[in-house]
Amino acid sequence: MSLMNPIKILVIPGSLRSGSLNIRLAGAAMAELVEAGAEVSLISLGDYPLPIYDGDLEARSGVPAEAVNLKRQIEAHHGVLLVSPEYNSSPPPLLKNALDWVTRVRERGEPLGHAMRGRPFALAAASTGRFGGARCLMMLRLMLSGCRVTVIPDQLALSFADQAYDDLDRLKPGADRDMLKAMTRQLIDVAERMRHHD
Ligand SMILES: Cc1cc2nc3c(=O)[nH]c(=O)nc-3n(C[C@H](O)[C@H](O)[C@H](O)COP(=O)(O)O)c2cc1C
Repeated sequence: MSLMNPIKILVIPGSLRSGSLNIRLAGAAMAELVEAGAEVSLISLGDYPLPIYDGDLEARSGVPAEAVNLKRQIEAHHGVLLVSPEYNSSPPPLLKNALDWVTRVRERGEPLGHAMRGRPFALAAASTGRFGGARCLMMLRLMLSGCRVTVIPDQLALSFADQAYDDLDRLKPGADRDMLKAMTRQLIDVAERMRHHD
């Protein structure tokens, strides 16, 4: 990877909660990405407040500026990592709704979903439960595949996430830490390959 022109990765947690396990995992992933040489932006969807998608609202007023801004943020990076809670075996509305709106943005006559298709997405989830949000990741993968987005194969479903860290806020040694490392490196590798196809 070129040090002059590092890969830029956007990390989007699917929770706003103070003390969020997913924001914490996003922080650990960010540290791995930086260690691997990427430039990382960690955003909060709280900075992109959006109404629940409504086709009448869109027809009346167009896509909200916040969705256009989020789409441009995605475009300004070579890859995206979503770190999402699981609500009732599904992605939370906060994240689903934000992605739905982004797929409605069309600038300069480009095709719908253009920004999301041009760069790889990686998926992670954290939960105090046994499945670690794995079902939410299946649904996100399905949703993104339907949008013809490249989703990298490696993913992390972090179970018992409240007990997963050491004193330095790193994942304890073991399979989850290995997967976080592998997944973040795979995201950088695929982003590197895809950026030359722009
Ligand atoms: C409405 C709701 C539904 C939930 N459903 C699930 C679930 O299906 N599977 C799961 O592992 N955890 C579930 N949880 C627990 C969340 O994993 C837990 O609240 C987690 O801490 C949320 O993520 P955060 O800490 O990043 O905010 C649910 C929580 C809420 C509020």
